[in-house]
Amino acid sequence: MNILLLGSGGREHAIAWKIAQSPKVRNLYIAPGNAGTALVGKNVNIKADDFEAIREFALAHDINMVVVGPEDPLVKGVYDYFKNDAALSHIPVIGPSKAGAQLEGSKDFAKAFMMRHHIPTARYKSISAENLQEGYAFLESLQAPYVLKADGLAAGKGVLIIDSLEEAKKELGIMLEGMFGDASKTVVIEEFLDGIECSVFVLTDGSNYKILPVAKDYKRIGEGNTGLNTGGMGAVSPVPFADATFMQKVEERIIKPTVEGLRSEGLDYKGFIFLGLINVKGEPLVIEYNCRMGDPETEVVMLRIQNDLVDLLEGVAEGNLGDRTLTEDPRAAVTVMLVSGGYPEAYEKGKIITGLDTITENILFHAGTKMSDGQIVTNGGRVIAVSSYGKDKDEALARSFAGARKIHFDKMYYRHDIGFDL
Ligand code: AMP
Ligand code: GLY
Repeated sequence: MNILLLGSGGREHAIAWKIAQSPKVRNLYIAPGNAGTALVGKNVNIKADDFEAIREFALAHDINMVVVGPEDPLVKGVYDYFKNDAALSHIPVIGPSKAGAQLEGSKDFAKAFMMRHHIPTARYKSISAENLQEGYAFLESLQAPYVLKADGLAAGKGVLIIDSLEEAKKELGIMLEGMFGDASKTVVIEEFLDGIECSVFVLTDGSNYKILPVAKDYKRIGEGNTGLNTGGMGAVSPVPFADATFMQKVEERIIKPTVEGLRSEGLDYKGFIFLGLINVKGEPLVIEYNCRMGDPETEVVMLRIQNDLVDLLEGVAEGNLGDRTLTEDPRAAVTVMLVSGGYPEAYEKGKIITGLDTITENILFHAGTKMSDGQIVTNGGRVIAVSSYGKDKDEALARSFAGARKIHFDKMYYRHDIGFDL
């Protein structure tokens, strides 16, 4: 079959790497891809949300399946675009409908969905300019710190965690006045939960589901989880505290009611569900839903799926995922992200990357790279994810750090403490 994968980051390189291993695949195209995806498939110079260009390409290249990496095309309705076009409707899109993608596209929608289906999550109130006073009153009823979330997509920056009540009230007003544009016209105020987080990924065909290997990501730029939030500095799988007892609670209290809730509400959902969970004294609660795989979690999860991913994706498309098997690799997998100096604030691009050809013990996933005059250069804040297997996380981490030391570009930075809290 011919597969078109949308996106251009480390997540997409990892998915492309896994898809390319399938004997079922004839051609794999990545739109737009990066210098890494070009090693396992053919890059196509089309933006992941340019639906008309994607349409033309899919028809011209006899595409049999579209796999969507990032949330943007999903929230904009790429699934529905294919379904409602007579020439495209036979091509399955792996990802939810626009309505289903609201689990990520609107925090207010996601919270109300969890309430309707009795899915454990932080207490909350949705506030807009009309009920600002209720927002103040709700904040007064909570203990510090205070969690304010822009309702809509805000490129991962829409969550504020604030220590003082006065400051929280002020920021609530500023958010509603358009701090994140339309995305913060509604703000979700949440009770702060104290615990340790992990990422659980579910693949569903709308009624059956498979639970993928559990991972934990590291979002802060600084060691010891300090400093600014990033798109992710590293990840580890498995996660020791996500043991059989914990995962049984996750499945019964969260996964089953989520999949059943989507089905019973008629929300078309054939794709990945990302559960951002927090473990509070052994009890799982949902911090957020995403409608796609996580980055950089995917750079470890793909290593730990032993069987053919395309077989599972076919199960999603055909609605018989229940007949397919998913086998987890018993080894640990980790990834360490090499980033540009200055990131997540201002940084320079176009730095020549050397040492990539010396790597033998790692699997490299390109996050922000491109080819320039025959050389691979940096093209983003997050540049390369150095992934490794090991008998345990420590062995895998030692391999990733050894790999990182062999790669160079001007002002390269990475965290040396990935996995420190597990
Ligand atoms: P989100 O975009 O909803 O995942 O929020 C970003 C990050 O903020 C999460 O990964 C958590 O670390 C933190 N966070 C969000 N909501 C809460 C909460 N209710 N309690 C504690 N931390 C939270
Ligand atoms: N790793 C978190 C995310 O992909 O949103």
